[in-house]
Amino acid sequence: MAAMDTPRTLSGAARLAGVIGWPVTHSRSPRLHGYWLAKHGVDGAYVPLPVEPARFAEAVRGLVACGFRGANVTIPHKEAAFALCDEVADSARRAGAVNTLVFEGGRILGSNTDGWGFLESLREQAPGFDPRSGPAVLLGAGGAARAIAAALLDAGCPRLFLVNRTRGRAEALAEALGGPVDVAEAPPLAGAALLVNTTSLGMAGQPPLSLDLSPLSPAAVVADIVYVPLETPLLAAARARGLAAVDGLGMLLHQARPGFAAWFGVMPEVDAGLRAFVAADIPPR
Ligand code: ATR
Repeated sequence: MAAMDTPRTLSGAARLAGVIGWPVTHSRSPRLHGYWLAKHGVDGAYVPLPVEPARFAEAVRGLVACGFRGANVTIPHKEAAFALCDEVADSARRAGAVNTLVFEGGRILGSNTDGWGFLESLREQAPGFDPRSGPAVLLGAGGAARAIAAALLDAGCPRLFLVNRTRGRAEALAEALGGPVDVAEAPPLAGAALLVNTTSLGMAGQPPLSLDLSPLSPAAVVADIVYVPLETPLLAAARARGLAAVDGLGMLLHQARPGFAAWFGVMPEVDAGLRAFVAADIPPR
């Protein structure tokens, strides 16, 4: 018989996890967890789980019954996941949403790793930046804004300005966050240490975010959570001005790490190989 590479198969004891979304076809999570599973030689699998909203609770309980270790939760289920959990971490309470489920002894534990992932990505891509160094301006007031705002405040950001198309939503977020948070009509860029776009502007198929970055100090950092395309018009404008620019892929990769650690027993790293492997699936511009 011809020699053949040993096929990669699962044992009967394989650890199972996945991502629950509707639709879930756009999710890069199976690809990035698949990279880590292969890298660390884990006997486990991470699968896409298309679950329609009306069946979310039933599906999660089914995963518990099937012995899954847990799951990621993405659009549109993050708030439903928060409501379903037996226990939620502070990160989830502050964000009002859950993106990571861990099943333990039949209990459903929820956390939100988006804010942590954002901070880790800042640490990686703008290593000299300290969130305590000055005010941050956050564009948007949706779920991602909530998680990032809470994480920045927890990291010692001295003042946060929220700017959103629907002002009432920014006001509600400011009230929920408490602390040194103001709502602004126009982004107060002069004096800002950090500018973060959490809106969908600049995403492929959406209008670009047009903002004059000239009032920003040369030491300011510009971050975008949009990662399709990888280099958004906002990040290109920031780089053209010589500012540090932090892309949305970093947050996507880092937010996945705590879940992987909980389900598969290894805290994975974001390395150049992972970045290239996931980026290969994303249009550059
Ligand atoms: P997510 O959970 O990913 O943050 P979301 O809750 O839908 O998604 O929030 C999207 C954000 O992008 C919101 O701040 C939204 O502004 P509104 O609160 O006014 O809806 C913002 N956004 C989306 N499209 C926009 C546009 N064309 N112009 C300005 N802001 C936009």
